[in-house]
Amino acid sequence: MNELHAVDLAAGDPATWRITQHGFDVDAQHHSETVFTIGNGQMCVRGSFEEGYPDDHPAAFMHGVWDDMPVSVTELANLPRWWGVDLWFDGQRFRLDTGRLLSFTRSLDLRTGVLSRSVRWEAPSGAVVELGFERFVDFSSPHRAAVRVSVASDRPVRVRTRAGLDAHVENTGLLHWRLVGQDADDAVAWLHTRTRATGIDLGSACAVTLDGVEADAVAGGTDGVPTVEHTFELSSGRTATLTKQVAVVSGIDASSPATEASRLARDAAAAGWDALREASDAAWLRVWERSDVVIEGDPEAQVALRFSLFQLLIAAPRFTEHASIGAKTLSGFGYRHHVFWDTETFMVPPFSYTQPEIARNMLLYRWHGLAGARQKARANGRRGAQFPWESAGTGEEVTPTWMVDPGDQSTLVRVWTGDIEIHITADIALAVMQYWQVSGDDTFMRDHGAELVLDGAAFWASAATSEDDGHFHLRNVVGPDEYHDRVDDNAYTNHLAAWHLRTAGSVAVWLAERHPERWSELAPALDLDAAELERWSEVAQAMHLPVGPDGLLEQFEGYFALTDLDVAELRDPARTISMQQRYGFEGIAATQVLKQPDVLMLAYLLPEEFSGEALASNYAYYDPRTDHEHGSSLGPAISAVMACRAGEPEVGYQHFLRAARADLLDVRHNAGDGIHGASAGGLWQAVVFGFAGLEVTADGWHTTPMLPKHWTRVEFGFDHHGVHRRVVVEA
Ligand code: BGC
Repeated sequence: MNELHAVDLAAGDPATWRITQHGFDVDAQHHSETVFTIGNGQMCVRGSFEEGYPDDHPAAFMHGVWDDMPVSVTELANLPRWWGVDLWFDGQRFRLDTGRLLSFTRSLDLRTGVLSRSVRWEAPSGAVVELGFERFVDFSSPHRAAVRVSVASDRPVRVRTRAGLDAHVENTGLLHWRLVGQDADDAVAWLHTRTRATGIDLGSACAVTLDGVEADAVAGGTDGVPTVEHTFELSSGRTATLTKQVAVVSGIDASSPATEASRLARDAAAAGWDALREASDAAWLRVWERSDVVIEGDPEAQVALRFSLFQLLIAAPRFTEHASIGAKTLSGFGYRHHVFWDTETFMVPPFSYTQPEIARNMLLYRWHGLAGARQKARANGRRGAQFPWESAGTGEEVTPTWMVDPGDQSTLVRVWTGDIEIHITADIALAVMQYWQVSGDDTFMRDHGAELVLDGAAFWASAATSEDDGHFHLRNVVGPDEYHDRVDDNAYTNHLAAWHLRTAGSVAVWLAERHPERWSELAPALDLDAAELERWSEVAQAMHLPVGPDGLLEQFEGYFALTDLDVAELRDPARTISMQQRYGFEGIAATQVLKQPDVLMLAYLLPEEFSGEALASNYAYYDPRTDHEHGSSLGPAISAVMACRAGEPEVGYQHFLRAARADLLDVRHNAGDGIHGASAGGLWQAVVFGFAGLEVTADGWHTTPMLPKHWTRVEFGFDHHGVHRRVVVEA
């Protein structure tokens, strides 16, 4: 286990705004690259070093810059490397795998998004050099970032610096860029590249300045790598500081992105580092004022929640309504930046409550994807909008059909989720309704939200099949628990579909009464008439929703007949792999073990459908059968809330910790692929909806707190119908 953040926890309050790493661990470098990702809601950059390191995974991504790829269809192209700075001391290149590393500290300030690193390094020539690195992505505007490197030495040393841009980047072996143009002068280097398949232009530029010493700048570079170089003698006791003001602009935002990037970089250099920092810090301050959650009595919980919020805030589309947050945010190559139900169910709620403009952008992203969703429904012989399981730039389905079996690299496994994990359509409707309820944003609902909900309902009404038993069924689906696929009547899916149909009926009435002009426009466009609305209510009423004794739901038809594994095996602390890896895809599907708590997810999202008794019996049955440790990273945060609702906050706290450690301590050994965005959003929900017990209803809001016993105080804010509310819960 990586001890990344644990180091400074004892240091008290300032440490709860910082992620600090003392010493460099090569084996954990991909993990720490992910953890030290910074960004501004438009562009993010992993914590890869300025000078590089063998086998690193350097990457920066920008919303909207998609390019085609085999198997997974499309991904965001890794941006030309703009944060690189190469340094030579007495002719010896600085890198952590050369010379001798005397000390290393890296620190991310969550308050301002500034990543800094101090390194003491002995060059092969014997000179001991102090290096200070700082970088941030301007949080106040979409396109700017800056890197600063200071160097000092214990003896006179000859220093050469090279700062520029590099188009020779890859997405784990795939090349996405063609070079269109480049140049450099003694102050600015720029690069114009274009994605190979989608033809998106990108301009990158950097303005380079050197302070503290006299040195001539020389423009240079090679094909695809324009640079600005300096060479100088550094006497002992002096510090030279190189500043690189960067701008990255895509053709989506400007007609001449390279020219625009050069202009922005030059302007930033003229304004200086401090001016940019001031603007960026002020923007962060405004965001934290609304988003921060204070937890007293538990520094680990405090720093983990701030870290999770930070990672969501830097990936969330703050400057566009044509992008959303992918499952692994903008911090790695995992899931190729595709957007899943993770977004609406786990990540949108914190934004709906604290940064409604961002939640709105994320929901508008789905609205812009309606054409793709309609096409998917049509292709499946359905009506309305069937949202893709994985979505990228256009709203079309981009789920790969096959994947390599992680347990046996020579075998391919069929991925069914893109075909039949249909619950996402209702998850999106739920996020829309939740946003509307807390924000009171009727304009959004009238112009966009209603269309999302209504067209999704049309899909459900056409997907449910009427059978001889007098009920409607949804057969051959995948529920949230992906250890079991191709199942019939998944309780989560059926209940959410029925909820969606009922809700859409009320939305139709609201729209027709309150905004008749919009209704008279939308009804014919979506083919909605009295008969269709009547069918929605009929399908909702007759949906197959069997309930067992004490309100126990069967996760899907035939689930209770599956083998019930020994709970002790599931809870065995020595196990380090998932139950699916242990038993294989078919093997685990024959058991009752769950990847994530399917029925309890339903109870979480639609609490009004569960009496106290039903909640207790479902919790008692399903919680012990869930692969909490190694199943889905989405589960633990929700299990934390459910444990609170079952009156067990200490059990909830254990689940909370699993989510809190998903990325900081890399408990699933895959954080190198990127941040687990759903777990991050779930963590906020665990605190606000679980431990603090916030509930917003049609009549207002209230809390039913249930803090873990060592938490002394929780404070957070949320926006309710445009009014910022503060909630303080004290033990
Ligand atoms: C989970 C899904 C999730 C996806 C992306 C899968 O492992 O089972 O629920 O949507 O990962 O995070």
